Amino acid sequence: MDIMSYNQPVKLKTQSKIDLEMFSQTFNQLCKNTRLLQTRAYTHHFGTSLLRHSVNVAYVSVFISKLLRLNIDYLQLIRGALLHDYYLYDCHEKTEEHKKHHLRRHPSKAVIAAQEDISLTKKEIDIILKHMFPITFSIPKSKESLVVCLSDKICSIYELFTNIYKRFFYKLLFV
Ligand SMILES: [Fe+2]
Ligand SMILES: [Fe+2]
Repeated sequence: MDIMSYNQPVKLKTQSKIDLEMFSQTFNQLCKNTRLLQTRAYTHHFGTSLLRHSVNVAYVSVFISKLLRLNIDYLQLIRGALLHDYYLYDCHEKTEEHKKHHLRRHPSKAVIAAQEDISLTKKEIDIILKHMFPITFSIPKSKESLVVCLSDKICSIYELFTNIYKRFFYKLLFV
């Protein structure tokens, strides 16, 4: 597995705004101390791996924070974003639990799974627990949580549309 390939996620024009070294270090540390790499086996949004999605969300979160010049804790922001979907199961498995409750319950499952591996700060827990707002009704308490919540929506929409295009329209039009 080429870890470095995950250190260069969505390419944005203002890449220089992002401290890639800190981003890479945090990512590599989590890969060592948690089961984060397992999440590349699960896909969502019609084809993006959970690992790629988490890296995208972390990257966009840093990008937004830098762009808006937010006074933010970048380490907790990146860690929370990388672990926000750390639920370690395939949400497409047709169990009753997954069918009914995945959308609302996966944030708390992600916190439980992450805490089995490492200790999380209150802010990191809040980032993970609140990222599904407004679906989960619990309002993000910090700027970091709010940014990750927003980045998750942006990345999900982007991934959804690019995957639908690749899967259906590209084949229809060009193959
Ligand atoms: Fe999620
Ligand atoms: Fe997500």
